[in-house]
Amino acid sequence: MSRFYVTTPIYYVNDEPHIGHAYTTILADVVARFHRALGDETYFLTGTDEHGQKVQQAAEKRGVEPQQHVDEYVVRFQEKWDALNINYDQFIRTTQENHKTVVRYLLQKLWDKDLIYKDTYEGWYSVAEERFLTDNEYEEGEWRDVRRLSETNYWFKMSNYQEKLINYIHDNPDFIQPAFRKNEVLGFLRQELGDLCISRPKSRLNWGIDLPFDSDYVTYVWFDALTNYISAIGYPTETETFEKWWPVDFHLIGKDILTTHAVYWPTMLMAADLPMPKTIFAHGWWLIGDTKMSKSLGNVVRPLDLANEYGVDALRYFLMKEMTPGQDANFTLEAFINRYNSDLANDLGNMVNRITKLIGRNFDYSLPNPGETTPADADLAQHVAGLRQKVREEFDQMRVNYAITHVFDVLREINRYLEETAPWKLMKADKERAGTVLYNAAEALRLSAVHLYPVMPDKISQLLEVMGTSAQARLSEDDWFKWGHIKAGTILGKTEGLFPRIEIPETPEEAPFALDLKPEVTFDDFTKMDIRIVKIIGAEKHPNADKLLKLQVDLGAEQRQVIAGIADHYSPEDLLGKYVSIIANLKPVTIRGEISQGMILAADDGTSVSPLIPLKDVEPGSKVR
Ligand code: ME8
Ligand code: MG
Repeated sequence: MSRFYVTTPIYYVNDEPHIGHAYTTILADVVARFHRALGDETYFLTGTDEHGQKVQQAAEKRGVEPQQHVDEYVVRFQEKWDALNINYDQFIRTTQENHKTVVRYLLQKLWDKDLIYKDTYEGWYSVAEERFLTDNEYEEGEWRDVRRLSETNYWFKMSNYQEKLINYIHDNPDFIQPAFRKNEVLGFLRQELGDLCISRPKSRLNWGIDLPFDSDYVTYVWFDALTNYISAIGYPTETETFEKWWPVDFHLIGKDILTTHAVYWPTMLMAADLPMPKTIFAHGWWLIGDTKMSKSLGNVVRPLDLANEYGVDALRYFLMKEMTPGQDANFTLEAFINRYNSDLANDLGNMVNRITKLIGRNFDYSLPNPGETTPADADLAQHVAGLRQKVREEFDQMRVNYAITHVFDVLREINRYLEETAPWKLMKADKERAGTVLYNAAEALRLSAVHLYPVMPDKISQLLEVMGTSAQARLSEDDWFKWGHIKAGTILGKTEGLFPRIEIPETPEEAPFALDLKPEVTFDDFTKMDIRIVKIIGAEKHPNADKLLKLQVDLGAEQRQVIAGIADHYSPEDLLGKYVSIIANLKPVTIRGEISQGMILAADDGTSVSPLIPLKDVEPGSKVR
């Protein structure tokens, strides 16, 4: 029996999970299910990345402790993965004690081996990117908010491993996949590899793991995050478990984080004398109608909206079929619906209906006896025979879309066989031959559809049950795969509604997704909020943040300062003298060093942002009810 260990990136806990995150996670789930079905001992790890500046800032903005913030936000990932039928073995969070202990252990180990040193670095620091830029980057890029900064930090001697890593990549063609990504990494390694700054001074960031040898510093988030792949499986104390799973078979990642995984992580492992991952597989990017998905463009596709509307398995199928791993893929609702209708409703769904209905009507749902075999029958069986091996080979290369294509090639063969033999016409003249044809078609369907089980676990379980076999996927059982395994007389089920056709909405732009409302509140909840009309009597740019405006507002009885994140949409002059609405009893917070007592209410359609203003003149301080 083999073992199989697969990981996803641990996602930034602040992010709203979108189809990009869902894609990697579903891909990992599909390959993990495939290996479990093969009988391999399988471990599937996912989780969240919970330290760092962005989390600290988001928590500050909400006026809560970072730990409370991440505890509340992590649920959004966990609930979505449950809803998408993700069957992980562990969900790791980098704020877990056991993970933090391992990160500190690893740092201490490298420190003791003299692979970490302290040094002062002066350079161009990008506040927005939260990192130093190389001189090259500084000169060639366009950066906002860059300052000269000198800072003392701890450095990992990554440069020691440059040669060793290059050689390793050359000697192990499977290490970085697809191959063109390997060349990208080798290209990167042609320049001199510097050392890696692995600390942040607490004066700048304190939401992180303390360095074991200097508590004035926390650990750089990537050093912390990458370590999850081994802390989750018992490194270094639970030796047996760790050695059982490590080295990992596949680190699945998006192309955005190739360097951290293919350069930082391997050098960290080399420094710790640990084996290399077997394969780092970087898939491409989901684009939305050819553009990048981003919050500010307002084109973020939420996986649950689609799953709620069209079914979890339909979404899983689309994502797995539509992306050639490695390449970018394009998401549009139209493509989703077309794909669903042509593959699932037509090719697969109609075929199941047709076969079971014909057997139902003419043989009372009892699988007929196969009679004599004709060349056409043998030909069909032949098509089915090679499928199992082909699917296996594609999965080994992480080419799930091609595996699916092979299955549908066979499904189309079954359709052709049915068209040619036309059992519905034979029923009167030669019922025995009609029965043979239907037996063969059912058998071919069972033997091909089972390969889609990892992609659509619920639907394929139902389908297999309808075909009179258990819902267990048995990719490992040779007997199950023998043509004729299902006996005549087996009672078939009914298939109504397995893959109902989706009617294409008349105006797709109007009805694409559900509203995604927040949970219901009572009137009492609502009255806890004190919303007031204020007059803006002072407006200027926030001294420390490009996106923020610092506003002075008049509430009639008093004046206050409110920080508003609308500088991308309004200049201070646009707002001066305007009447807008604010939540007046919001707990005051300090945002980038400036107090904010209240929050401006604004409408946001993803492109435009507009403060809510009263239609008639009202006094400053008026209540909104
Ligand atoms: O980078 N298309 O987390 P992250 C396809 N915390 N995949 C996408 C995608 C898109 N448009 N957008 C995101 C981090 N992804 C770090 C990782 S690992 C030790 C630390 C997926 O929340 C893809 O897998 O930004 C990508 O690599 C990952 O989400 C980035 O997630
Ligand atoms: Mg990212």
